[in-house]
Amino acid sequence: MTRVFSGIKPTGHLTLGNYLGAMRRWVQVDQHRADALFCIVDLHALTVEHDPARVRRLSRQAATLLLAAGLDPTLCTVFVQSHVDEHARLSYLLECVATDGEMRRMIQYKEKAARERERGGSVRLSLLTYPVLMAADILAYGTDEVPVGDDQTQHVELTRDLAVRFNQRYGTTFVVPRATHPAVAARVMNLQDPTSKMGKSEDVGPGIVYLLDEPDVVRKKIMRAVTDSGRDVVYDREGRPGLANLLEILAACTGGNPEDLSGVYESYGSLKKDTADAVVEVLRPVQERHRELCADAGYVEGVLRNGAERARAMARPTVDAAYRAIGLLPAS
Ligand code: TYM
Repeated sequence: MTRVFSGIKPTGHLTLGNYLGAMRRWVQVDQHRADALFCIVDLHALTVEHDPARVRRLSRQAATLLLAAGLDPTLCTVFVQSHVDEHARLSYLLECVATDGEMRRMIQYKEKAARERERGGSVRLSLLTYPVLMAADILAYGTDEVPVGDDQTQHVELTRDLAVRFNQRYGTTFVVPRATHPAVAARVMNLQDPTSKMGKSEDVGPGIVYLLDEPDVVRKKIMRAVTDSGRDVVYDREGRPGLANLLEILAACTGGNPEDLSGVYESYGSLKKDTADAVVEVLRPVQERHRELCADAGYVEGVLRNGAERARAMARPTVDAAYRAIGLLPAS
């Protein structure tokens, strides 16, 4: 059976981008057709300045939202990264296979490091090595497929390179995984700045739809989305990015495709209204289930406890094999 692994980082409130780009496919497709693991990757949240209490709160919230969105622990494994030591153990071995030049070429590292420096802060070493830990997350489970949004492509490519290099040097140990992306909405853009991604870590409200935004907030954000001064509603990702973003969101929420919506709308106003309605409808059941689950913290904790146990059992043989292959003396 195909093994699927993916993760989400508790650095901010989850967004419509996370949902359309990743979570929705995990729920609707991956958990049904594969042996799938979904991880709240809390160690990754420590790579930039963080507040410990907030990371804890956001980790719990992310787990609750994944279940609210429809991940079913009888079909898949949901767990928290730091509960399974194998991730950190394997990450170190992969640091011994990766090079510093490779790390410095990562686009997300360059962007995030520049942002930290602009704020006058220093750059944590873990930000540089982040993609190695991500590779460990994936390789520890013999993963075949990694369902992610577009922004993670480079990290998955690096994971493949590290797996191939390790296998060539030390004998076949890892499955070489590949990224999969949704057909529509692989990169949902910020409503106020459609040239940049709708990202949870930025935390500047008006351009980002959060999964827990009230319906009237969602409507306001979408009605105020930046478009352009044109009049016709056509799909042109390069030339009309704001408009294209709305068409993609609408298409993703209604199961269509954005090209087919080209020319259907007479005005930006009616497109925005339909998009807002569609997003509100997509979020409604997730928010309802989230409210129910918040009243049942014991359930979420139980899911995470069982998930970690299952994940540990799956990761340990691979990570132990990597320890032996690379030349470490087994503890007898
Ligand atoms: P993260 O937490 O930033 O995002 C989680 C998932 O949501 C997708 N995503 C988007 N998709 C479309 N449009 C957007 N605006 C948007 N924003 C986010 C991301 O592509 C991702 O699939 N490094 C990863 C977390 C990670 C991971 C892993 C993923 C750590 N280890 C192993 C897969 C496998 C990250 O920061 O995702």
